[in-house]
Amino acid sequence: MSSIVYVGGQKGGTTKTTTSHLMCLGAILRKQPAAYVLTDPHRRVKADGRPYGVLDGRDGNVLAQIITASQSTKNGWLIVDGGGNRPAFDQAMAEQAHLTILPFRASEEDLEAVARDLETMPDSIALPSAWSTNKHAQEAAQRLIDALKQAFPGRVIDRPVWFVNSTAELLGASLESPSTTVRNAARHTFDILISSFSLHAAKRAEDESSTVGAA
Ligand SMILES: Nc1ncnc2c1ncn2[C@@H]1O[C@H](COP(=O)(O)OP(=O)(O)OP(=O)(O)O)[C@@H](O)[C@H]1O
Ligand SMILES: [Mg+2]
Repeated sequence: MSSIVYVGGQKGGTTKTTTSHLMCLGAILRKQPAAYVLTDPHRRVKADGRPYGVLDGRDGNVLAQIITASQSTKNGWLIVDGGGNRPAFDQAMAEQAHLTILPFRASEEDLEAVARDLETMPDSIALPSAWSTNKHAQEAAQRLIDALKQAFPGRVIDRPVWFVNSTAELLGASLESPSTTVRNAARHTFDILISSFSLHAAKRAEDESSTVGAA
């Protein structure tokens, strides 16, 4: 069975697509099968030279087939890339995915948007992305994470995906030989995905025990 990860969120430009590709490349570098699924009707599929599968799920019926078929791949990853401004699609995918990841950048706008999404998708987890590697910028940005963590305990990943200039490579026409920088970012992002699963499982267990306790 493949783990289905939905990378979503209402706001545009939060790094959904880049993060999805980083996760796929990272999975492959860690020797685990992975496929990327495009769902945004306004985008195209660029499969050239990619070491992971690239699937066109822009049609709802095809997407449903892709999801069903993924269940016969052992220990794989199906990374479904959302598209901004499609709240109904976000909801539907979040219900089908094993984990929904909502990337956000260090801005007030992104923070407000991700807080709304965390509210409407109770099974989702927020991921700081394109995070500054500059110490001073990081301190300010950490306050955003802390505020979000306080509002949504157990639902904010502590390890950010760093700002990496060359991530543009990932969205280029071909990904024949990714640079070391991109490969490192990909491994780091995949490791974060694994931590997200643990955080999510821990949160679930906690919710369940508190429900049992309340009953
Ligand atoms: N880790 C990163 N470091 C630096 N730049 C990044 C990173 N991730 C994404 N970017 C840049 O941010 C921009 C937006 O990223 P991307 O297209 O992945 O966002 P998106 O959420 O998929 O947008 P849309 O909502 O339009 O689909 C791109 O220019 C991309 O190169
Ligand atoms: Mg995108």
